[in-house]
Amino acid sequence: MGMFKALVLNQDEGKTTAAVEELALTDLPDENVLVKVDYSSLNYKDGLAVTGKGKIIRKFPMVPGIDMVGTVEESADDRYSAGDKVVLTGWGVGENFWGGYAQYARLKADWLVPLPEGMEPIRTMQIGTAGLTAMLCVMALEEGGVTPESGPIVVSGAAGGVGSVAVAILAGLGYKVSAITGRPETESYLRALGASEILNRAEMAEPARPLEKQKWAGAVDTAGDTILARILAEADYNGVVTACGLAASFKLPSTVMPFILRNVRLQGVDSVMCPTERRRVAWQRLLTQLPENALGDIAQIIALSDVPDYAEKITNGQVKGRVVVDLNA
Ligand SMILES: NC(=O)c1ccc[n+]([C@@H]2O[C@H](COP(=O)([O-])OP(=O)(O)OC[C@H]3O[C@@H](n4cnc5c(N)ncnc54)[C@H](OP(=O)(O)O)[C@@H]3O)[C@@H](O)[C@H]2O)c1
Repeated sequence: MGMFKALVLNQDEGKTTAAVEELALTDLPDENVLVKVDYSSLNYKDGLAVTGKGKIIRKFPMVPGIDMVGTVEESADDRYSAGDKVVLTGWGVGENFWGGYAQYARLKADWLVPLPEGMEPIRTMQIGTAGLTAMLCVMALEEGGVTPESGPIVVSGAAGGVGSVAVAILAGLGYKVSAITGRPETESYLRALGASEILNRAEMAEPARPLEKQKWAGAVDTAGDTILARILAEADYNGVVTACGLAASFKLPSTVMPFILRNVRLQGVDSVMCPTERRRVAWQRLLTQLPENALGDIAQIIALSDVPDYAEKITNGQVKGRVVVDLNA
């Protein structure tokens, strides 16, 4: 078989370099399923990995890309055979194991999820890790007893990948959504996704008192730091706050008051090691509960060679919505 293209990260005097290279199948790590990759996507974590701004990659050379969708070419595992369409997000792929920024990948069968029936491959990458995480947050809100009747939901980093999909899903399910953004120019985009109120990021990042006026039945927080602390202080009695990101920082300058006086629940959400069964449920729900027209607005498509530029942009908070990487463009 011929050569194929991959984005390869290396280290040069402590700095991460990224270049599109020609590889052979024999260069791939030894795992039990060979997948021809159609699309990958760009998440915040990919941005940190490709630019080297975050300590995501510890072993070089590395093919990054934490998401991918493709077709099985060979499988030594009974669960998959040639021709099966599969999706992969997380499990440390694109961090500790070679990932989706390549036309071929060798993967563990345990990491794969069959393409949900009726879902176009490209749609899975329009959604990607970010969208899957948004759905896991929505599921956590529901499990905490939050319904559209409970009251408004606040979403931070709303114009980003996780935030955009969260706004669209929640609005589609009938929730009233308040969107926090640092980019006022995204207001019409966020309103088109279903946000009914736009909140200024800088104001929401102002340090809050231990308890503020109650405003939110629930939250999807991608920011952390003072924004998460303010959301907790503003959460309703019995409110559920899901925390999945650190776009502001990993800090949480809060107090116990929302928990002990308002019965507020702070629920962590992780997509990377999320069990396969829960992923399947989330993907199935994304098929039916993420409004079809929303994704056209949310996602743009780029080529593999564009990834380093976009990695820089996403880490500077300049990417709106989701970015799909077309491995055949
Ligand atoms: N737990 C998990 O499994 C999981 C999975 C996926 C992602 N994440 C995390 O979730 C976060 C969002 O990921 P993503 O892929 O959606 O990234 P993204 O597309 O870059 O979105 C992040 C958004 O956060 C906002 N933001 C940027 N800088 C900020 C700051 N200093 N303070 C507050 N908000 C800021 C921006 O939205 P506005 O312009 O609208 O303000 C930006 O678009 C990241 O921290 C990522 O690591 C976690």
